[in-house]
Amino acid sequence: EVPDLVDRFGRVARDLRVSITEKCSLRCTYCMPAEGLPQIPTERLLSPAEIVRLVRIAVTDLGVQEVRFTGGEPLMRRDLEEIVAGCAAAVPGVPLTMTTNAVGLEHRAQALAAAGLSRVNVSLDSVDRAHFAELTRRDRLPSVLAGIRAAARAGLTPLKVNAVLMPETLAGAADLLRWCLDEGCRLRFIEEMALDADHAWDRRTMVDAAGLLEVLGERFTLTEVGREDPASPAEEWVVDEGPGTVGIIASVTRNFCDACDRTRLTAEGTVRSCLFSDEEVDLRARLRAGADDAELAALWRGAMWEKWAGHGMDSAGFEPPRRSMGAIGG
Ligand code: GTP
Ligand code: 5AD
Ligand code: SF4
Repeated sequence: EVPDLVDRFGRVARDLRVSITEKCSLRCTYCMPAEGLPQIPTERLLSPAEIVRLVRIAVTDLGVQEVRFTGGEPLMRRDLEEIVAGCAAAVPGVPLTMTTNAVGLEHRAQALAAAGLSRVNVSLDSVDRAHFAELTRRDRLPSVLAGIRAAARAGLTPLKVNAVLMPETLAGAADLLRWCLDEGCRLRFIEEMALDADHAWDRRTMVDAAGLLEVLGERFTLTEVGREDPASPAEEWVVDEGPGTVGIIASVTRNFCDACDRTRLTAEGTVRSCLFSDEEVDLRARLRAGADDAELAALWRGAMWEKWAGHGMDSAGFEPPRRSMGAIGG
């Protein structure tokens, strides 16, 4: 029997990302349609107990070493604290993290830290209120900034900020970096991927890492330091004399698929081996039919074995997957 979650290319998945909802409090254009995604009936969503069980299997039987909760927006689930506490008890010592837009986090950061959450990554594209409202279709910047500060106070650190690169973000990129350096957050810019619900992504007009470095170079001196570890999507630069840094996740122009260590669970309990692969394996159905841990682990291994070499966004004839980012979780 094959140990761990390996694929045909010899990659090993150690990083589990669990989407727990497709609802979101914002409507970023590169991720969600304006009207939001169709609602998933509650009985189709994994329950806290089911999430805890699958996380335990991933860690105990499949070699997963870090668990990240994503969405949609994980804070949209009122039982998030229960999910975190359950996982913390089931897999003690395993870092539990969350990628969030931080809307409303102000009021829950303390409870989430107490439940066992280790740290958070916050998606924030602009610190200009009007810009933020335009990009997210919601005027919630004050809540996001308060959420970031509350998370830092609660010890959910090192806190990283993710900003997706768009022509609109580029103009305020240096201001965003200044803000993050002053607040002690680690900013990372992300090349936009073809995962927007509106299918407007265009390789030819996409803002890339090179374009960003040019803009930041007008205000800061950047010194390249590389990746924190080989499987990390972000490459880092020291800003001015340091100690602050800025990262770039260049998924398109400097893709890192050959070092990918990720496996994903959707909110409905299917295994997704790659952001870009719609070939999912349904664990929820088997789990609810009474499958034991060994059967679920075997299904999960089978799903990951089929993982594609990479996303192919740079190749001719590339087709985006059916699910948009809001239904995968980044
Ligand atoms: P850390 O462990 O804190 O570094 O987290 P992370 O960077 O793995 O997670 P986060 O949710 O902050 O991801 C940031 C962004 O990286 C996502 O929004 C995606 O745009 C991109 N990303 C994450 N995982 C993958 C992946 O497997 N493939 C690709 N192409 N991009 C990814
Ligand atoms: N391309 C790259 N990153 C994206 N995100 C959402 N949509 C896209 C996209 N099309 C990022 C968000 C957040 C994470 C959940 O996914 O900024 O950090
Ligand atoms: Fe991994 Fe797929 Fe992302 Fe490439 S696109 S890094 S293979 S999840």
